[in-house]
Amino acid sequence: MARINEHYAKLPASYLFPEIGRRVRAYQAAHPDARVIRLGIGDVTEPLAPAIVAAMHEAVDDMGKRETFRGYGPEQGYDFLVEAIRANDYVARGVDIAADEIFVSDGSKCDSGNVQEIFALAARVAVTDPVYPVYVDSNVMAGRTGAVGPDGRYPGLTYLVGTEANGFQPEPPAEPVDVVYLCSPNNPTGTVATRAQLERWVEWARANDAIILFDAAYESYISDPDLPRSIYEIEGARDYAIELRSFSKRAGFTGVRCAFMVVPRSVMGTGADGARVSLHALWSRRHTTKFNGASYVVQRGAAAAYSPAGLAQTDAQIAFYMENARLLREGLGACGFTIFGGVHAPYLWLRTRNNATSWEFFDRLLTEAQIVGTPGSGFGPAGEGYFRLSAFNSRANIEEAIGRLRKVFG
Ligand code: MLT
Repeated sequence: MARINEHYAKLPASYLFPEIGRRVRAYQAAHPDARVIRLGIGDVTEPLAPAIVAAMHEAVDDMGKRETFRGYGPEQGYDFLVEAIRANDYVARGVDIAADEIFVSDGSKCDSGNVQEIFALAARVAVTDPVYPVYVDSNVMAGRTGAVGPDGRYPGLTYLVGTEANGFQPEPPAEPVDVVYLCSPNNPTGTVATRAQLERWVEWARANDAIILFDAAYESYISDPDLPRSIYEIEGARDYAIELRSFSKRAGFTGVRCAFMVVPRSVMGTGADGARVSLHALWSRRHTTKFNGASYVVQRGAAAAYSPAGLAQTDAQIAFYMENARLLREGLGACGFTIFGGVHAPYLWLRTRNNATSWEFFDRLLTEAQIVGTPGSGFGPAGEGYFRLSAFNSRANIEEAIGRLRKVFG
Protein backbone atom coordinates (compact mmCIF):
# COMPACT_ATOMS: atom_id res chain seq x y z
CA MET A 1 0.00 0.00 0.00
CA ALA A 2 1.42 3.37 -0.97
CA ARG A 3 1.73 5.70 1.99
CA ILE A 4 0.40 9.16 1.17
CA ASN A 5 1.97 12.52 1.89
CA GLU A 6 0.37 13.07 5.31
CA HIS A 7 0.94 16.81 5.11
CA TYR A 8 -1.98 17.06 2.66
CA ALA A 9 -4.30 16.06 5.50
CA LYS A 10 -3.46 19.35 7.22
CA LEU A 11 -5.09 21.34 4.42
CA PRO A 12 -8.75 22.32 4.16
CA ALA A 13 -10.59 19.77 1.97
CA SER A 14 -10.78 22.07 -1.04
CA TYR A 15 -8.92 25.09 -2.32
CA LEU A 16 -10.78 28.38 -1.82
CA PHE A 17 -12.08 28.97 -5.35
CA PRO A 18 -13.43 25.44 -5.99
CA GLU A 19 -15.26 25.78 -2.63
CA ILE A 20 -16.86 29.04 -3.75
CA GLY A 21 -17.75 27.39 -7.08
CA ARG A 22 -19.42 24.52 -5.21
CA ARG A 23 -21.56 26.90 -3.13
CA VAL A 24 -22.54 28.97 -6.17
CA ARG A 25 -23.51 25.85 -8.15
CA ALA A 26 -25.70 24.70 -5.25
CA TYR A 27 -27.41 28.12 -5.12
CA GLN A 28 -27.85 28.21 -8.88
CA ALA A 29 -29.34 24.68 -8.89
CA ALA A 30 -31.89 25.76 -6.27
CA HIS A 31 -32.58 29.08 -8.10
CA PRO A 32 -32.27 28.30 -11.79
CA ASP A 33 -33.65 31.71 -12.83
CA ALA A 34 -31.21 33.76 -10.74
CA ARG A 35 -28.73 35.71 -12.86
CA VAL A 36 -25.61 35.42 -10.74
CA ILE A 37 -22.82 37.99 -11.30
CA ARG A 38 -19.39 36.57 -10.56
CA LEU A 39 -16.94 38.95 -8.94
CA GLY A 40 -15.22 36.15 -7.03
CA ILE A 41 -12.18 34.60 -8.68
CA GLY A 42 -10.03 37.17 -10.43
CA ASP A 43 -10.52 35.82 -13.91
CA VAL A 44 -10.32 38.12 -16.90
CA THR A 45 -13.37 38.50 -19.15
CA GLU A 46 -12.14 40.52 -22.15
CA PRO A 47 -11.10 38.45 -25.19
CA LEU A 48 -7.44 38.30 -26.20
CA ALA A 49 -6.09 41.44 -27.88
CA PRO A 50 -6.14 41.24 -31.72
CA ALA A 51 -2.32 41.59 -31.94
CA ILE A 52 -1.95 38.53 -29.68
CA VAL A 53 -4.53 36.51 -31.61
CA ALA A 54 -2.79 37.32 -34.92
CA ALA A 55 0.61 36.28 -33.54
CA MET A 56 -0.79 33.02 -32.19
CA HIS A 57 -2.48 32.23 -35.53
CA GLU A 58 0.79 32.84 -37.30
CA ALA A 59 2.59 30.62 -34.79
CA VAL A 60 0.09 27.80 -35.41
CA ASP A 61 0.85 28.15 -39.11
CA ASP A 62 4.59 27.92 -38.31
CA MET A 63 3.94 24.65 -36.52
CA GLY A 64 2.11 23.30 -39.58
CA LYS A 65 5.03 23.79 -41.97
CA ARG A 66 8.15 21.64 -42.14
CA GLU A 67 10.50 24.66 -42.44
CA THR A 68 9.17 26.43 -39.37
CA PHE A 69 7.94 23.55 -37.20
CA ARG A 70 9.35 23.52 -33.64
CA GLY A 71 9.63 20.62 -31.22
CA TYR A 72 10.86 21.12 -27.65
CA GLY A 73 11.79 24.74 -27.11
CA PRO A 74 14.48 26.16 -24.83
CA GLU A 75 13.39 25.35 -21.25
CA GLN A 76 13.88 28.96 -20.09
CA GLY A 77 11.87 30.39 -22.97
CA TYR A 78 12.43 31.48 -26.56
CA ASP A 79 14.82 34.38 -27.11
CA PHE A 80 12.12 36.42 -28.82
CA LEU A 81 10.05 36.42 -25.62
CA VAL A 82 12.88 36.66 -23.11
CA GLU A 83 14.34 39.66 -24.96
CA ALA A 84 10.92 41.36 -25.12
CA ILE A 85 10.51 40.84 -21.35
CA ARG A 86 13.99 42.15 -20.63
CA ALA A 87 13.63 45.24 -22.79
CA ASN A 88 10.09 46.24 -21.80
CA ASP A 89 9.76 45.19 -18.19
CA TYR A 90 13.28 45.85 -17.00
CA VAL A 91 15.68 47.83 -19.22
CA ALA A 92 12.94 50.41 -19.91
CA ARG A 93 12.65 50.96 -16.14
CA GLY A 94 16.39 51.20 -15.62
CA VAL A 95 16.75 47.65 -14.30
CA ASP A 96 19.49 45.37 -15.53
CA ILE A 97 18.33 41.76 -15.71
CA ALA A 98 20.25 39.29 -17.90
CA ALA A 99 18.36 37.12 -20.36
CA ASP A 100 19.43 33.92 -18.59
CA GLU A 101 18.00 35.20 -15.29
CA ILE A 102 14.48 34.98 -16.75
CA PHE A 103 12.61 31.65 -16.61
CA VAL A 104 9.45 31.54 -18.75
CA SER A 105 6.77 29.24 -17.33
CA ASP A 106 3.13 28.31 -17.72
CA GLY A 107 1.84 30.39 -14.82
CA SER A 108 2.60 32.27 -11.64
CA LYS A 109 0.40 29.99 -9.57
CA CYS A 110 2.75 27.12 -10.44
CA ASP A 111 5.85 29.27 -9.94
CA SER A 112 4.70 30.56 -6.56
CA GLY A 113 3.77 27.04 -5.48
CA ASN A 114 6.98 25.46 -6.77
CA VAL A 115 9.62 27.94 -5.71
CA GLN A 116 9.63 26.76 -2.08
CA GLU A 117 11.22 23.49 -3.30
CA ILE A 118 14.66 25.09 -3.52
CA PHE A 119 14.68 25.95 0.20
CA ALA A 120 15.36 23.59 3.10
CA LEU A 121 12.38 22.19 4.97
CA ALA A 122 13.85 23.92 7.99
CA ALA A 123 13.78 27.32 6.27
CA ARG A 124 11.71 29.77 8.28
CA VAL A 125 9.00 31.11 6.00
CA ALA A 126 6.89 34.24 6.49
CA VAL A 127 3.66 35.14 4.75
CA THR A 128 1.39 38.11 5.07
CA ASP A 129 -2.09 37.58 6.44
CA PRO A 130 -4.36 38.00 4.46
CA VAL A 131 -2.42 36.10 1.79
CA TYR A 132 -2.74 34.45 -1.62
CA PRO A 133 -3.45 30.89 -0.35
CA VAL A 134 -0.96 29.16 -2.67
CA TYR A 135 2.01 30.47 -0.66
CA VAL A 136 0.70 28.87 2.51
CA ASP A 137 -0.73 25.65 1.09
CA SER A 138 2.40 24.79 -0.90
CA ASN A 139 4.51 25.09 2.26
CA VAL A 140 2.02 22.96 4.19
CA MET A 141 2.17 20.29 1.45
CA ALA A 142 5.97 20.35 1.60
CA GLY A 143 5.90 19.66 5.35
CA ARG A 144 7.12 22.99 6.72
CA THR A 145 4.22 23.32 9.18
CA GLY A 146 2.30 21.54 11.88
CA ALA A 147 -1.46 20.99 11.81
CA VAL A 148 -3.58 24.12 11.59
CA GLY A 149 -4.29 25.64 15.01
CA PRO A 150 -7.58 26.88 16.47
CA ASP A 151 -6.59 30.37 15.34
CA GLY A 152 -6.52 29.18 11.70
CA ARG A 153 -2.73 29.44 11.55
CA TYR A 154 -0.13 26.80 10.76
CA PRO A 155 2.60 26.50 13.39
CA GLY A 156 5.93 26.79 11.64
CA LEU A 157 4.93 29.76 9.47
CA THR A 158 5.40 33.37 10.52
CA TYR A 159 2.31 35.48 9.84
CA LEU A 160 2.71 39.19 9.17
CA VAL A 161 -0.67 40.68 9.84
CA GLY A 162 -2.15 43.26 7.50
CA THR A 163 -4.62 45.59 9.19
CA GLU A 164 -6.45 48.78 8.41
CA ALA A 165 -3.94 50.51 10.67
CA ASN A 166 -0.93 49.45 8.57
CA GLY A 167 -2.83 49.81 5.30
CA PHE A 168 -2.57 46.01 4.82
CA GLN A 169 1.18 46.43 4.25
CA PRO A 170 2.81 44.78 7.29
CA GLU A 171 6.34 45.71 8.29
CA PRO A 172 9.23 43.20 8.13
CA PRO A 173 9.27 40.73 11.03
CA ALA A 174 11.33 41.20 14.16
CA GLU A 175 11.77 37.43 14.60
CA PRO A 176 14.22 35.46 12.42
CA VAL A 177 12.85 34.55 8.98
CA ASP A 178 14.69 33.17 5.94
CA VAL A 179 12.11 33.56 3.17
CA VAL A 180 9.18 35.96 2.86
CA TYR A 181 6.42 36.06 0.25
CA LEU A 182 5.32 39.55 -0.72
CA CYS A 183 2.65 40.41 -3.27
CA SER A 184 2.28 43.94 -4.63
CA PRO A 185 -0.16 45.10 -5.92
CA ASN A 186 -1.63 42.81 -3.36
CA ASN A 187 -3.93 39.91 -3.87
CA PRO A 188 -6.34 39.94 -2.04
CA THR A 189 -6.36 43.45 -0.52
CA GLY A 190 -5.68 45.42 -3.70
CA THR A 191 -3.26 47.67 -1.79
CA VAL A 192 0.18 48.47 -3.17
CA ALA A 193 3.61 48.80 -1.54
CA THR A 194 5.28 52.19 -1.80
CA ARG A 195 8.92 52.65 -2.71
CA ALA A 196 9.75 53.44 0.95
CA GLN A 197 8.04 50.23 2.10
CA LEU A 198 9.91 48.12 -0.44
CA GLU A 199 13.15 49.81 0.53
CA ARG A 200 12.53 48.73 4.13
CA TRP A 201 11.97 45.16 2.95
CA VAL A 202 15.17 45.06 0.94
CA GLU A 203 17.08 46.60 3.84
CA TRP A 204 15.59 43.96 6.15
CA ALA A 205 16.55 41.18 3.71
CA ARG A 206 20.11 42.51 3.58
CA ALA A 207 20.36 42.77 7.37
CA ASN A 208 18.97 39.25 7.87
CA ASP A 209 20.42 37.55 4.78
CA ALA A 210 16.84 36.64 3.85
CA ILE A 211 15.13 36.09 0.51
CA ILE A 212 12.09 38.02 -0.76
CA LEU A 213 9.77 36.15 -3.13
CA PHE A 214 8.11 39.12 -4.81
CA ASP A 215 4.88 38.34 -6.64
CA ALA A 216 4.24 41.18 -9.09
CA ALA A 217 1.48 39.46 -11.09
CA TYR A 218 -0.63 42.64 -10.96
CA GLU A 219 2.12 45.23 -11.62
CA SER A 220 0.53 46.44 -14.85
CA TYR A 221 -2.43 47.78 -12.85
CA ILE A 222 -0.20 50.39 -11.19
CA SER A 223 -0.91 53.77 -12.72
CA ASP A 224 1.18 56.02 -10.43
CA PRO A 225 4.65 56.32 -12.05
CA ASP A 226 6.24 56.82 -8.61
CA LEU A 227 5.18 53.36 -7.41
CA PRO A 228 7.68 50.60 -8.21
CA ARG A 229 6.45 47.88 -10.54
CA SER A 230 9.43 45.64 -9.90
CA ILE A 231 11.30 44.92 -6.69
CA TYR A 232 14.49 45.41 -8.71
CA GLU A 233 13.74 49.12 -8.92
CA ILE A 234 14.92 49.11 -5.31
CA GLU A 235 18.67 49.35 -4.86
CA GLY A 236 20.19 46.09 -3.65
CA ALA A 237 17.16 43.92 -4.46
CA ARG A 238 19.12 41.99 -7.10
CA ASP A 239 20.96 40.25 -4.27
CA TYR A 240 17.93 39.30 -2.20
CA ALA A 241 14.81 38.99 -4.36
CA ILE A 242 13.18 36.59 -6.78
CA GLU A 243 10.37 38.16 -8.81
CA LEU A 244 7.28 36.52 -10.27
CA ARG A 245 5.38 38.02 -13.20
CA SER A 246 2.44 36.82 -15.22
CA PHE A 247 0.68 37.45 -18.53
CA SER A 248 -2.64 36.32 -16.97
CA LYS A 249 -3.84 39.70 -15.79
CA ARG A 250 -1.48 41.75 -17.99
CA ALA A 251 -2.68 40.28 -21.27
CA GLY A 252 -5.72 38.15 -20.49
CA PHE A 253 -3.78 34.85 -20.40
CA THR A 254 -5.62 33.12 -17.54
CA GLY A 255 -6.72 30.45 -20.02
CA VAL A 256 -3.65 30.65 -22.29
CA ARG A 257 -1.04 30.28 -19.49
CA CYS A 258 2.29 32.08 -19.57
CA ALA A 259 4.37 33.71 -16.85
CA PHE A 260 7.98 34.10 -15.83
CA MET A 261 10.19 34.18 -12.81
CA VAL A 262 13.36 36.25 -12.47
CA VAL A 263 16.13 34.67 -10.44
CA PRO A 264 19.20 36.93 -10.48
CA ARG A 265 22.52 35.09 -10.36
CA SER A 266 23.49 37.13 -7.33
CA VAL A 267 20.71 35.76 -5.06
CA MET A 268 22.32 33.29 -2.67
CA GLY A 269 21.19 30.69 -0.18
CA THR A 270 23.29 28.71 2.25
CA GLY A 271 24.22 25.03 2.11
CA ALA A 272 24.36 22.74 5.16
CA ASP A 273 28.11 23.41 5.34
CA GLY A 274 27.50 27.15 5.37
CA ALA A 275 28.71 27.63 1.79
CA ARG A 276 26.95 30.24 -0.37
CA VAL A 277 24.89 28.62 -3.13
CA SER A 278 23.34 30.38 -6.12
CA LEU A 279 19.55 30.05 -6.09
CA HIS A 280 19.70 30.60 -9.84
CA ALA A 281 21.59 27.33 -10.25
CA LEU A 282 19.07 25.48 -8.10
CA TRP A 283 16.04 26.92 -9.86
CA SER A 284 17.63 26.22 -13.24
CA ARG A 285 18.15 22.58 -12.18
CA ARG A 286 14.57 22.32 -10.97
CA HIS A 287 13.06 24.05 -14.01
CA THR A 288 14.99 22.00 -16.56
CA THR A 289 14.18 18.74 -14.75
CA LYS A 290 10.48 19.25 -14.15
CA PHE A 291 9.42 21.56 -16.98
CA ASN A 292 9.76 21.44 -20.75
CA GLY A 293 8.93 25.02 -21.60
CA ALA A 294 5.74 26.93 -22.36
CA SER A 295 4.40 26.19 -25.82
CA TYR A 296 5.76 28.02 -28.86
CA VAL A 297 2.32 29.32 -29.84
CA VAL A 298 1.71 30.71 -26.35
CA GLN A 299 5.14 32.36 -26.21
CA ARG A 300 4.53 34.01 -29.60
CA GLY A 301 1.28 35.36 -28.16
CA ALA A 302 3.02 36.63 -25.03
CA ALA A 303 5.73 38.34 -27.10
CA ALA A 304 3.04 40.05 -29.18
CA ALA A 305 1.72 41.64 -25.96
CA TYR A 306 4.91 43.78 -26.10
CA SER A 307 4.46 44.90 -29.73
CA PRO A 308 3.25 48.51 -30.10
CA ALA A 309 -0.22 47.30 -31.06
CA GLY A 310 -0.19 44.64 -28.32
CA LEU A 311 0.80 47.18 -25.68
CA ALA A 312 -1.87 49.66 -26.78
CA GLN A 313 -4.57 46.96 -26.86
CA THR A 314 -3.70 45.36 -23.53
CA ASP A 315 -3.29 48.78 -21.86
CA ALA A 316 -6.82 49.58 -23.03
CA GLN A 317 -8.09 46.36 -21.44
CA ILE A 318 -6.39 47.22 -18.16
CA ALA A 319 -7.88 50.72 -18.27
CA PHE A 320 -11.27 49.13 -18.89
CA TYR A 321 -10.98 46.88 -15.81
CA MET A 322 -9.71 49.78 -13.72
CA GLU A 323 -12.72 51.87 -14.73
CA ASN A 324 -14.82 48.94 -13.47
CA ALA A 325 -12.86 49.15 -10.21
CA ARG A 326 -13.48 52.90 -10.00
CA LEU A 327 -17.22 52.41 -10.54
CA LEU A 328 -17.32 49.69 -7.90
CA ARG A 329 -15.44 51.88 -5.43
CA GLU A 330 -17.86 54.72 -6.10
CA GLY A 331 -20.94 52.48 -5.80
CA LEU A 332 -19.75 50.77 -2.62
CA GLY A 333 -18.68 54.11 -1.16
CA ALA A 334 -22.18 55.47 -1.78
CA CYS A 335 -23.55 52.49 0.19
CA GLY A 336 -21.27 53.47 3.09
CA PHE A 337 -18.79 50.62 2.83
CA THR A 338 -15.21 51.02 4.02
CA ILE A 339 -13.11 50.06 1.00
CA PHE A 340 -9.43 49.43 0.36
CA GLY A 341 -7.61 48.72 -2.89
CA GLY A 342 -9.11 49.04 -6.34
CA VAL A 343 -6.87 51.97 -7.31
CA HIS A 344 -3.69 50.22 -8.48
CA ALA A 345 -5.15 46.71 -8.50
CA PRO A 346 -8.25 45.02 -9.91
CA TYR A 347 -9.37 43.94 -6.41
CA LEU A 348 -11.46 45.81 -3.87
CA TRP A 349 -11.26 44.80 -0.25
CA LEU A 350 -14.18 45.85 1.90
CA ARG A 351 -15.17 45.58 5.50
CA THR A 352 -18.36 43.54 5.91
CA ARG A 353 -21.51 45.08 7.40
CA ASN A 354 -22.80 44.69 10.97
CA ASN A 355 -19.80 42.61 12.00
CA ALA A 356 -20.87 39.80 9.66
CA THR A 357 -18.27 37.11 9.17
CA SER A 358 -16.82 36.87 5.69
CA TRP A 359 -18.86 33.75 4.86
CA GLU A 360 -22.07 35.28 6.30
CA PHE A 361 -21.48 38.26 4.03
CA PHE A 362 -20.80 35.91 1.10
CA ASP A 363 -24.16 34.19 1.69
CA ARG A 364 -25.98 37.49 2.06
CA LEU A 365 -24.51 38.88 -1.16
CA LEU A 366 -25.30 35.68 -3.03
CA THR A 367 -28.86 35.24 -1.79
CA GLU A 368 -29.96 38.91 -1.71
CA ALA A 369 -28.00 40.39 -4.62
CA GLN A 370 -26.98 37.28 -6.59
CA ILE A 371 -23.40 38.54 -6.53
CA VAL A 372 -20.44 36.27 -5.88
CA GLY A 373 -17.37 37.62 -4.14
CA THR A 374 -14.57 36.04 -2.13
CA PRO A 375 -14.75 35.81 1.67
CA GLY A 376 -11.74 37.50 3.23
CA SER A 377 -11.29 34.67 5.73
CA GLY A 378 -10.42 32.40 2.78
CA PHE A 379 -7.18 34.38 2.57
CA GLY A 380 -6.22 33.84 6.20
CA PRO A 381 -7.50 34.57 9.71
CA ALA A 382 -6.76 38.31 9.40
CA GLY A 383 -9.16 38.42 6.43
CA GLU A 384 -12.11 37.60 8.70
CA GLY A 385 -14.68 40.38 8.53
CA TYR A 386 -13.51 41.43 5.07
CA PHE A 387 -14.58 40.59 1.56
CA ARG A 388 -12.92 40.79 -1.86
CA LEU A 389 -14.62 41.88 -5.07
CA SER A 390 -12.92 41.56 -8.43
CA ALA A 391 -13.24 44.23 -11.12
CA PHE A 392 -12.92 41.68 -13.93
CA ASN A 393 -16.26 41.64 -15.71
CA SER A 394 -18.26 43.33 -18.45
CA ARG A 395 -19.32 46.95 -17.89
CA ALA A 396 -22.96 45.88 -18.04
CA ASN A 397 -22.44 43.34 -15.24
CA ILE A 398 -20.52 45.81 -13.09
CA GLU A 399 -23.27 48.39 -13.48
CA GLU A 400 -25.93 45.79 -12.75
CA ALA A 401 -23.96 44.65 -9.67
CA ILE A 402 -23.69 48.21 -8.37
CA GLY A 403 -27.44 48.69 -8.82
CA ARG A 404 -28.12 45.51 -6.85
CA LEU A 405 -25.66 46.50 -4.11
CA ARG A 406 -27.39 49.87 -3.77
CA LYS A 407 -30.76 48.13 -3.44
CA VAL A 408 -29.55 45.77 -0.72
CA PHE A 409 -27.19 48.06 1.18
CA GLY A 410 -27.88 51.62 -0.01
C1 MLT B 1 -7.57 35.12 -7.56
O1 MLT B 1 -8.77 35.29 -7.78
O2 MLT B 1 -7.06 35.27 -6.47
C2 MLT B 1 -6.71 34.73 -8.71
O3 MLT B 1 -7.43 34.60 -9.87
C3 MLT B 1 -6.06 33.48 -8.40
C4 MLT B 1 -4.93 33.21 -9.32
O4 MLT B 1 -4.49 34.07 -10.08
O5 MLT B 1 -4.48 32.08 -9.25
